[in-house]
Amino acid sequence: MKIAIIGAGNVGAMTASRIIDANLADAVLLDVVQGLAKGKALDISDARPIFDSKAAITGTEDFSDIRGSEIVVITAGLARKPGMSRDDLLKKNSDIIKGVSLQIKKYCPSSIVIAVTNPLDVMAYLVMKTTGFNPKRVMGMAGVLDTARFINILREKNKDIDEDKFLMMGSHGDTMVPVSRSKKISDSVFKEASERARNRGAEIVKYLGTGSAYFAPSASVFFMLKSIIKDEKKVMCASAYLNGEYGEKDVYIGVPVILGSQGIDKVIETELSEQEKKAFKESALQIHEGISKTL
Ligand code: NAI
Ligand code: 2OP
Repeated sequence: MKIAIIGAGNVGAMTASRIIDANLADAVLLDVVQGLAKGKALDISDARPIFDSKAAITGTEDFSDIRGSEIVVITAGLARKPGMSRDDLLKKNSDIIKGVSLQIKKYCPSSIVIAVTNPLDVMAYLVMKTTGFNPKRVMGMAGVLDTARFINILREKNKDIDEDKFLMMGSHGDTMVPVSRSKKISDSVFKEASERARNRGAEIVKYLGTGSAYFAPSASVFFMLKSIIKDEKKVMCASAYLNGEYGEKDVYIGVPVILGSQGIDKVIETELSEQEKKAFKESALQIHEGISKTL
């Protein structure tokens, strides 16, 4: 099994490192910056004797080297810079994602694709549209991360919360939809933890000064890859294409899914309260708006 990772920045390189350290699969790391992927791939490969890993890793600038990859992870893109609006970023990353998607279509026509680049749900949609792949084979990573952040924050309040009763649905952005089926936390704890989880990415960016989170994001991608490669059929949140589920059509948005060797096995339609339904609808609307600006 070979996995291609497009973008050898923080998330891409850390994801590659997790794959190789765990001996999960072979990997090819690609970046447009000359030498970047090659240097990082060499560094990652040197840890293999320490972890007793036999997995192979190479770095490249040449898209033809991703040929034969069964899964492609897209982390290529720009982060928002001072003076750049969200729409500027949307435009720049859309162009990058469209270009990358055409290369994936050319060299890995049967692959499963996990998009990571922001704005996540819009980018996942663009990958599906540009590659023309079956939507079951194209998904976005955000829900695993946002749910993990939510639970991690809740653990500070209550060490034995029933973790399987919490989800983060909706968009990977300001309109994330926190869902709780737990009776172990109060409304005020739920509200505070939801807000902190929603802002966690920005909180990390503020501390770092430059760049954004990549340890938990790469762990989230790894979790998804493992479920696909080992056909674990785990239930997790991911940005998935909806065709009528939750009353939404032609949009990518965070929902619980079953993830296995063929990609998204099933979108799970969990019962939502009226308030959650409303929040989910608003979130979908925002994503539709983003999509319309890129087409
Ligand atoms: P980074 O800036 O460290 O790395 C991005 C890399 O992409 C750079 O090395 C750049 O040279 C490369 N790149 C740009 N255009 C390319 C192209 N056409 N082909 C190949 N490589 C190209 O950024 P980082 O921290 O790795 O984040 C990557 C993306 O993931 C960002 O858009 C970020 O906002 C997003 N992200 C999303 C998360 C999620 O939950 N969905 C979590 C964390 C980050
Ligand atoms: C995060 O949530 C930047 O999307 C990234 O950390």
